[in-house]
Amino acid sequence: MSNLQGEPIKLTSLSSKGGCGCKIGPADLAGVLRNLPPALPNPNLLVGIDTSDDAGVYKLTDDLAIVQTVDFFTPIVDDPYSFGQVAAANAISDIYAMGGKPLTVLNIVAFPIHTLDKQVLTDILRGAADKVAEAGATLVGGHSIDDKEPKFGLAVTGLVHPDKVRTNAGAKAGDKLILTKPIGVGILTTSIKKDKLSAEEVGAVTKVMATLNKTAAEIMEPYNVHACTDVTGFGLLGHASEMAKGSGVGIRISKSQVPVLPRVRELAEEGFVPGGTKNNYAHLEGSMTFDQELDQLDQWILCDAVTSGGLLIAVAGDQGDALLGELRAAGVDAHMIGEVTAEGAGHIEVTL
Ligand code: CO
Ligand code: CO
Ligand code: CO
Repeated sequence: MSNLQGEPIKLTSLSSKGGCGCKIGPADLAGVLRNLPPALPNPNLLVGIDTSDDAGVYKLTDDLAIVQTVDFFTPIVDDPYSFGQVAAANAISDIYAMGGKPLTVLNIVAFPIHTLDKQVLTDILRGAADKVAEAGATLVGGHSIDDKEPKFGLAVTGLVHPDKVRTNAGAKAGDKLILTKPIGVGILTTSIKKDKLSAEEVGAVTKVMATLNKTAAEIMEPYNVHACTDVTGFGLLGHASEMAKGSGVGIRISKSQVPVLPRVRELAEEGFVPGGTKNNYAHLEGSMTFDQELDQLDQWILCDAVTSGGLLIAVAGDQGDALLGELRAAGVDAHMIGEVTAEGAGHIEVTL
């Protein structure tokens, strides 16, 4: 890949100074949103910005609601086609996390059109288009701006029955927690930027990020799922914490049951824990406890910022094994990582 002068280009190195391209945290956002007038109440708004859910849900009729979400970011892998795939899988995921089916998408593009080969943008869009097709959704348009730093993502609209919306607020004591993708993505993508991964290792983490949560979402549909979210920027424990707080329950996670991608621990030891991950940890510090044998690196890894992570599903305790078995039989890399508890509302306990 090259720029218009023919110089070799590394897509992940094009981020401008002053921002990390990662999600603005809840603490910073709260300071901004606090100064806005409250939105007018609307009975059709089933899920809005008051709860920290994955997407908004708006009721159209008694048996139809739309789910809306938007996600975009700077390149996290150097291959443009893969970046398009990952950005699309990540954006569409919030529809699946809410129990919806993706219907239409809009592309959001920022691109240095006068300095970077247009083929790069073509490849990004092609990667996204292939994922959108795999999701069974339809591209209806988009918007692009000339920007020195490339950014890409999608606004996605999905459909859901108003009675079947999966929020992160319904988890019940006794539920089993299932996670459908391994973690460690933030540490690995930070390592990509520092040229620490082999081509095969880049390919492996890219494949995880580019995998749609479609199969997992379809399989969980008939189950008694009380809460669901996808694991992204706030990390496994950050999103588990939102579920615990939103549902007024405690969550217990067994560290040894949590699937972690290869070499994550080793790269964390070498210092490739991203700032966003440490921020996640700092933000949660008062609301989690760890077994004393778990060191700082273990704790950071569990808080590692994820791009396009798996679904975190709280399913009725007596259905946990059946759902896990069906997910695994369908090729989903699902693991039962913990349970929901009545004690310690809003708290996360991590055992060995
Ligand atoms: Co989400
Ligand atoms: Co999102
Ligand atoms: Co426009």
